Amino acid sequence: MYTIVRRQAFSEITFLWEVLAPDVAQAAQPGQFVMLRLHEGGERIPLTVADFDRRAGTVTLVIQAFGKTTREMAHHYREGDRFADFVGPLGRPQRIEKVGHVALVGGGLGIAPIYPQLRAFKEAGNRTTGIVGFRAKPLVFWEDRFRDYCDELMVCTDDGSHGRPGFVTEALRELLERDPPDLVVAIGPPPMMQACVETTRPFGVKTLVSLNSIMVDGTGMCGSCRVSVNGQVRFACVDGPDFDGHQVDFQELMARQKRFKSQEATASEGYAH
Ligand code: FES
Repeated sequence: MYTIVRRQAFSEITFLWEVLAPDVAQAAQPGQFVMLRLHEGGERIPLTVADFDRRAGTVTLVIQAFGKTTREMAHHYREGDRFADFVGPLGRPQRIEKVGHVALVGGGLGIAPIYPQLRAFKEAGNRTTGIVGFRAKPLVFWEDRFRDYCDELMVCTDDGSHGRPGFVTEALRELLERDPPDLVVAIGPPPMMQACVETTRPFGVKTLVSLNSIMVDGTGMCGSCRVSVNGQVRFACVDGPDFDGHQVDFQELMARQKRFKSQEATASEGYAH
């Protein structure tokens, strides 16, 4: 069993868990993920590591309560509670190198996982620009943590209630024209990552994306997380989750993301009643 040593709510749907898991914390690297299961018979869900503290032996996750399991996590689990399984770290770590100027773009679910990558790129001696996008001011979190590792930080809100109005792609385009980065890392929902990739493509700036395809075992055996990269079949759980975004087939990824839609809706409705 694993214990939730800290829980923090960022908004009605976004919350943080700090989980005591010394072995995972010891081995975790930016870009990796864990598979979590709340209880016997529960669904296994992949969550990207948002932070880790090797001394305290904790792993931080930032979760948005959209599906059945994440809503169960939000409503039924409190600080001090325990849950069944926490497997990881899984996936390949991000390659952190000194490349010069790195822009890290996070949207929605991708904002937390971009943080350890930002910190690692900064600590490797890069100049860093952070671009993070939220729907509205009440959903903004970790602005201070991002600022600590950014030479420049652009906080965007869709409705203009905080920071810069508009989408992260608009801020990214402005940066590409004004101060082009040597590398872009974009993490968020697939349409947002695709939009970032199409924004950087004409500028020829390498853009890494973290693919959150549907995972079942997380170990390369089931094929559920199959994606096409540069025309080749790759498994996000063992070959990724980070890939060169300019080579990813996003249409296929988004079509495959919908294949359990009706089962997800049924599970969600069943949970709500
Ligand atoms: Fe099964 Fe990747 S989750 S192969």
